[in-house]
Amino acid sequence: MKSEVKNYNLLARAIHWLSALVVIAMFAVGLWMVDLSYYSEWYRTAPHWHKSVGLLFAGVTLFRLAWKIVTPSPKVEGAAYEVIGAKLAHLAMYGLLFALFVSGYLISTEDGRGIDVFSWFTVPGLGALFEGQADLAGQVHFYLAWGLILLAAVHALAALKHHFINKDNTLRKMIGASK
Ligand code: HEM
Ligand code: HEM
Repeated sequence: MKSEVKNYNLLARAIHWLSALVVIAMFAVGLWMVDLSYYSEWYRTAPHWHKSVGLLFAGVTLFRLAWKIVTPSPKVEGAAYEVIGAKLAHLAMYGLLFALFVSGYLISTEDGRGIDVFSWFTVPGLGALFEGQADLAGQVHFYLAWGLILLAAVHALAALKHHFINKDNTLRKMIGASK
């Protein structure tokens, strides 16, 4: 039997809030860096950081899902349609994240080079897997990023609605303060 818990555990909460910050920062840096001129001091550094953080974040997200499987999560509260909507949104956000990791990898490795993660280690590149890979993956990456940020905004508004209007434990369980 699955034990009932009221809060997300500390590690799940820490990763959730860290992920929220990383997603917002990656989105902002992504849009900013593609418009940098060759003469900007950030021209190489910003994409290097975007890719390095992105790959580390992919590892953290894989770990997050494994952790979710082995530890109990609190129940989603609200009307049946809200519970289904919330679960679909959570699933979609995980899906969008992985699609971003894959498309980001495909943009970066078309030329066969690996991705250097903060000069700590290199994730090998598979080279071009299909025609026009970097261009196509770049467009997909752009729309996925917008999709994720808009869905996360709706998700955050829903959490605030539960907190201030329904006055239930939805937001509290993500800060460890369920009643
Ligand atoms: C494995 C992880 C990731 C890698 C390797 C990666 C790689 C890249 C690369 C190479 C670009 C430049 C594309 C170009 O030159 O047109 C880019 C752009 C961008 N990335 Fe990522 N990325 C990753 C994850 C993410 C995540 C999690 C977000 C979060 C929302 C994100 C948001 C963006 C945005 C908004 C752009 C600008 C797109 C544009 O305006 O064309 N990326 N990314
Ligand atoms: C910006 C990027 C964000 C992403 C990608 C994101 C993603 C997620 C995901 C995937 C879950 C499901 C956790 C699980 O059970 O596996 C979740 C839960 C939750 N998130 Fe976010 N989130 C973000 C931002 C926020 C913000 C800004 C708030 C608050 C204003 C928030 C509040 C919550 C709450 C309260 C839950 C628990 C929902 C429940 O179990 O009923 N999130 N989030």
